[in-house]
Amino acid sequence: MHTFEHLRHVRFPLIQGAGTIPAVGFGTLIPNPVAAKQAIKVALEVGFRHLDCAELYRNEDVVGAAMHEAFEAGTVSREELFVTTKLWNNNHRPERVKLAFEASMRRLQLDYLDCYLIHTPFAFQPGDEQYPMNEQGEPIYDSGVTLVETWRAMERLVDEGRCKSIGLSDITLPKLKEIVAIARIKPAVVEVECHPFLPEWELLEFCQQHGIVLLAFAPLGHGMEPRITDDPVIKAIAQRADMTPAQVALAWAVQRGVAFLTTSTNPAHIQENFDISSLPENAMRDMQHRITTSVRLNAVVETGVPGFVPRRA
Ligand SMILES: NC(=O)c1ccc[n+]([C@@H]2O[C@H](COP(=O)([O-])OP(=O)(O)OC[C@H]3O[C@@H](n4cnc5c(N)ncnc54)[C@H](OP(=O)(O)O)[C@@H]3O)[C@@H](O)[C@H]2O)c1
Repeated sequence: MHTFEHLRHVRFPLIQGAGTIPAVGFGTLIPNPVAAKQAIKVALEVGFRHLDCAELYRNEDVVGAAMHEAFEAGTVSREELFVTTKLWNNNHRPERVKLAFEASMRRLQLDYLDCYLIHTPFAFQPGDEQYPMNEQGEPIYDSGVTLVETWRAMERLVDEGRCKSIGLSDITLPKLKEIVAIARIKPAVVEVECHPFLPEWELLEFCQQHGIVLLAFAPLGHGMEPRITDDPVIKAIAQRADMTPAQVALAWAVQRGVAFLTTSTNPAHIQENFDISSLPENAMRDMQHRITTSVRLNAVVETGVPGFVPRRA
């Protein structure tokens, strides 16, 4: 029998007194609204206390409805829940940041946010179009705004007390360093693709030196090929530790100090992803040194355009 208490309730401190973030989080990128609402409600019932949202996902209203039903049912209170959402690329101009934030808050039916992230460092042409494209089908970038200017607008949201912490997503280490160097309010969270096939050790070291929480999306590799759950090293550890391969990958994340976001519409997977217990030291070493697959699954960090196929369910 495992004592699951150990990892599922871990929280990491956020810098500048912004509280703590649960290590174990649930992502809301589920295009089907009925499936999304159901999965979010199951995740909250199981015990997930971090929901990761985005204006890009076009379902903040669904997340808001699911959260409020859970509040009313007494499953969880607003104060117990950590909610993140993200500013999309067409809203980087400083005068658009607050409007985009307020629109997200209305859809989520919240009066404060725990964490607001710049979804990618790529500014697209300002306007209502989420993917402004030229005739060649390439994104139209906006050279009229810098990431620093957008960051200053994010800082003002914290000043105004609407948002407890701010951060960045889909960012490379050199760009992160630029923001850390100029920030009055430092990034509290950096959300990037991170899993056993893309461990991001250098980025993690920088984040830990600066008190930034690295938040992994795709901790199970988006469920895509090559499958993390089929890796022979991970499968062998799972067998030795009496866990599933998914639990090994998730426990490894938390034990190295990384918070994660999984997503599932399968209640058994949702439960499994919450019920994680710690790995022995030799398993942590095997994860670091014996896994040979190395792959980035999502090209968003290079272009600002999500580079994977979202689930159909
Ligand atoms: N910042 C960004 O640019 C960015 C980009 C992408 C995603 N995200 C965020 O990250 C969240 C996580 O999504 P993800 O796709 O990256 O998550 P993921 O957990 O790596 O992958 C989800 C896939 O794994 C499967 N799965 C989940 N639990 C499993 C288990 N225990 N065993 C076997 N398979 C399992 C799911 O299928 P089933 O439904 O069948 O379980 C699904 O196909 C998103 O919802 C979103 O909030 C952020």
